[in-house]
Amino acid sequence: MKFFIDTASVEEVRRAAALGVADGVTTNPTLLAKESGKPEEIYKEICKVVDGPVCAEAVSLESGDIVKEGRELAAIDEKIVIKIPATREGIVAVKILEAESIRTNVTLIFSPMQALLAARAGASFVCPFVGRLDDASHEGMQLIAEILQMYQNYDLKTEIIVASIRSVLHVKECAMLGAHIATIPLGVIEKLIKHPLTDRGVESFLKDWQKIG
Ligand code: E4P
Repeated sequence: MKFFIDTASVEEVRRAAALGVADGVTTNPTLLAKESGKPEEIYKEICKVVDGPVCAEAVSLESGDIVKEGRELAAIDEKIVIKIPATREGIVAVKILEAESIRTNVTLIFSPMQALLAARAGASFVCPFVGRLDDASHEGMQLIAEILQMYQNYDLKTEIIVASIRSVLHVKECAMLGAHIATIPLGVIEKLIKHPLTDRGVESFLKDWQKIG
């Protein structure tokens, strides 16, 4: 499973890259609002750090405007992938942009049918949001299992980026299901390595090493 970093912080992308797990980045307007600097400059900096896709979200609502915005964002760097919400207008824009070889990521996916339409439109990626579904008392991971099954049934090539990840358990469940990619906040990535028995083991080995002198 590939790891994307769910952030607009260049520093966080660098920290994830140091762990060898920055296969790509997903940003969104909320994440960008936490940073200082213009989005275009932030995208450029992030593109210097990672080799994989860097998702930049279009904020227009009408398909023609989304296409225009998508073309402008794609011109920033060849790593840029245009994140487009799973609306009717968004799906129309995906078809047009993908026909121009501009990669798209259909975001804010909460149902299997949205994911099927996105794939039929030729989206390179889809972003189903598991955490927000869990928050609304639905089973987020069930959505991932269903989309994976549908894509497998019809040999659809769209890659699933599991989004809105909140915990280590979410990451484990994604990997057990065979999701292509998980986009994860840095805080959760850093928790993946943590285990109290590892810390205790290091501590006792150090104590014994000191006895040896
Ligand atoms: C995905 O690309 C989104 O940026 C992100 O995963 C949203 O997560 P949230 O539900 O924690 O805001």
